[in-house]
Amino acid sequence: MIVKESTKWWQKAVFYQIYPRSFADGNGDGIGDLAGMISKLNYLQELGVDAIWLSPHFPSPFVDCGYDVSDYEDVGPEYGTLEQFKHFLNQIHQRGMRLVLDLVLNHTSDQHRWFIESRSSRDNPKRDWYIWRDGDPGEPPTNWFSAFGGSAWEYDAHTSAYYYHYFFKEQPDLNWHNPAVKEAMFNAARFWLDMGVDGFRLDAVGTIFEDETYPAIPEGMSQEELYRMASQYVQPKGEKTVVSYHEEMFKHQVDRPEVHLIMQELRKVIDEYDDRVLIGETDDIAFYGDGTNELHLIFNFPLMRTNHLTAQHVSQNQLERLTALPPMAWPCNTLGNHDSARIYTAFGDGTHNNVQNKLYLMLLLTLKGTPFLYNGEEIGMSDYIIDDLSRFRDPLSVLYYQLEKRVNGSDERTTVLKGALMGRDRNRTPMQWSNALNGGFCPPETEPWLPVNSDYAAGVNVDDQVSNPDSMINFYRRMLHVRRQNTALQTGEYQEISTDSADILCYSRSDAEQTLLVVLNMSPEIQRVRLPFKVKQILINTMKNWVHIEDPEPTLQPYQGVIYIAA
Ligand code: NOJ
Repeated sequence: MIVKESTKWWQKAVFYQIYPRSFADGNGDGIGDLAGMISKLNYLQELGVDAIWLSPHFPSPFVDCGYDVSDYEDVGPEYGTLEQFKHFLNQIHQRGMRLVLDLVLNHTSDQHRWFIESRSSRDNPKRDWYIWRDGDPGEPPTNWFSAFGGSAWEYDAHTSAYYYHYFFKEQPDLNWHNPAVKEAMFNAARFWLDMGVDGFRLDAVGTIFEDETYPAIPEGMSQEELYRMASQYVQPKGEKTVVSYHEEMFKHQVDRPEVHLIMQELRKVIDEYDDRVLIGETDDIAFYGDGTNELHLIFNFPLMRTNHLTAQHVSQNQLERLTALPPMAWPCNTLGNHDSARIYTAFGDGTHNNVQNKLYLMLLLTLKGTPFLYNGEEIGMSDYIIDDLSRFRDPLSVLYYQLEKRVNGSDERTTVLKGALMGRDRNRTPMQWSNALNGGFCPPETEPWLPVNSDYAAGVNVDDQVSNPDSMINFYRRMLHVRRQNTALQTGEYQEISTDSADILCYSRSDAEQTLLVVLNMSPEIQRVRLPFKVKQILINTMKNWVHIEDPEPTLQPYQGVIYIAA
């Protein structure tokens, strides 16, 4: 991996994902919006993040919580207006921060005018913008599944044909073999780039093409079986059998080589502009291309696909990931987003969650690569299990509810719980700003679009934490500040150092200016470590004390992390 003299802003930046519907409600209707986000820009600046990734803010019928876009060149009316968006962007830039949007390339909403035209008749000029195949009702063209439940083919009686959808049936896949589709989508990208947006997070890039010979998947594979395997784990994450079954089930529908040509063309579009970035929602290193000609950043999802963030897991992950990257490619790490359990819930052991949350931030901000944080992590927000089916908003929660009933025949309470645990509403609940009704997200008399986690009243809110020096948020601020002040943590070389303990993760980050030593106790046991070299100062400590600079063999408390400056 080569660090060029002129490091790019997105290599040094810390990104913060805003889920717009849940961030801040400016007009009191229970839905987050641009006015709310604008009012929180000072907050983000003080927190110390450099760039914002905004989940979809486009007009959308909201079947898939905004990832079903019905107009790529506008703002959803519930969020505000295009004028307000420009103001938002301008205010971000004025604070020296950047803004990256979510670009959904694989599919549109079925309410997008392109699809409305496409389905209107077999000879409509936009017919070929989507993937249509003949077939009799009840006999879809292939036995493929949708990743979000049911067949991947939806019969449209109006023109007696099936259309293909990898996700919900309200999200028809675009036909990227049609050059007009590419042009329309690249123009949508240019629309925002011309406005000054700093780049895109590209949604589900692996799903853009399918195998056009349409081979069948093995007889007998079913969603029920996949569910049966996955539901044995509260958070199915990388359990081998589930993963390989899933891979077999969808192998003809993802990661086709043709996608790389599209990515290379999109990179050329981006390169027409000054210093923008493309981030792929995939962990497939192939999307870096040769390191210069496809996407700038690819998420290291394998890092978070574990139930336990052990030293061995992280060490193995870094070894595999960093050696696999092409020269010039830059790593990108995250531990959570709007599709996954929150860090606090996913990796907390139930006893040490607070200290673990701080430790995992230290890990994320000191590994080599660009870190992505998810809104709410900074106050230790956890998953909130909604036990009322009528309050579910993610159709995946509803799907899992139905599957649980069908597959395991569980009682109503268990099925609702399974739906809540396996869906994504739990990690998308509104941001908790204060200890006021509705956590200060929206007025007390308004019902928020998703319930607010009740722990806002137990200190998990911004206001209460800001005034407490030992709080999560103040640790986040200090840690972000430390990263910004120490270039070795941004772009320095990463070198893992083995210690006597398998539970200690120890590495150095060094550049021409300095060498830093990161020592993380990834276990619930007290650990004694022999420092591998002389240090002169403690840069930051996840705990108030326990470790002294004079001690060459410090004893680290459970889940304590310390960064030293080398002598
Ligand atoms: C990935 C997004 O992160 C997820 O929220 C969405 O449901 C799918 N892509 C489909 O767009």
